[in-house]
Amino acid sequence: MSSRPVVAVVPAAGSGERLGAGRPKALVPVAGEAMVARAVDGLLASGSVDAVVVVAPAANLAEMRAVLPAGVDVVPGGADRVASVALGLDAVGDAGVVLVHDAARCLCPAAVTAAVVDAVRAGHGAVIPALPVADTVRRVDTAGRVVGPVDRTGLLAVQTPQGFAPDVLRRAHEAAATSPTASRATDDAGLVEAVGGEVVTVPGDPRAFKITTPLDLAMAEALVGAEVRR
Ligand code: CTP
Ligand code: MG
Repeated sequence: MSSRPVVAVVPAAGSGERLGAGRPKALVPVAGEAMVARAVDGLLASGSVDAVVVVAPAANLAEMRAVLPAGVDVVPGGADRVASVALGLDAVGDAGVVLVHDAARCLCPAAVTAAVVDAVRAGHGAVIPALPVADTVRRVDTAGRVVGPVDRTGLLAVQTPQGFAPDVLRRAHEAAATSPTASRATDDAGLVEAVGGEVVTVPGDPRAFKITTPLDLAMAEALVGAEVRR
């Protein structure tokens, strides 16, 4: 398996409603460089990734290609993240490991990518980077009334890149395509779990946070070039 390439699918086809920048989020610059370009550069610079497929909004394919290195494949995405990843997966040829990495997690350190790839190569079918939840967590009803405590023990917040044996990810997406509930999944490991697959974790990193809101974008800009103690 080790001679077959590591291929990363980068879902970047979202509109970025919550960021509200008036353009697809992946094209929004973070300290002068488009989010998607930073995400792809980070993957390629990790030394753990051989090829990248970016999934872009159908209306912005040329704009995406213009900010990405030559050799990166750009394909049109779908109505939700699950559909976009499935379309990206269709463009992945022979691979030993498939990663799925949100364009919006554009400051993910190389070490996280390397750890995920290593764990898949070691024989795990599905690998996710994850971090302990820092906040106190409560379950509430629809009116916002607290209905009970949640024990934080054993709770982890999940990031990307997520890594998979290609057949495991393909089977999970095939099942999702025929399931009415699967499109609600917000990550690919969730689809693997839904078909009974085992998912293991490796340590995530706070810098792999997802840029969702204007506050997140400001934090990302502040992080670029900064030496920050974790
Ligand atoms: N994504 C995608 N195709 C979609 C929706 C999302 O490829 N139809 C991608 C986004 O581009 C992003 C990642 O999935 O890199 C995580 O999604 P999210 O952070 O929710 O991004 P958006 O959907 O663009 O943001 P919002 O939900 O605020 O509109
Ligand atoms: Mg979204």
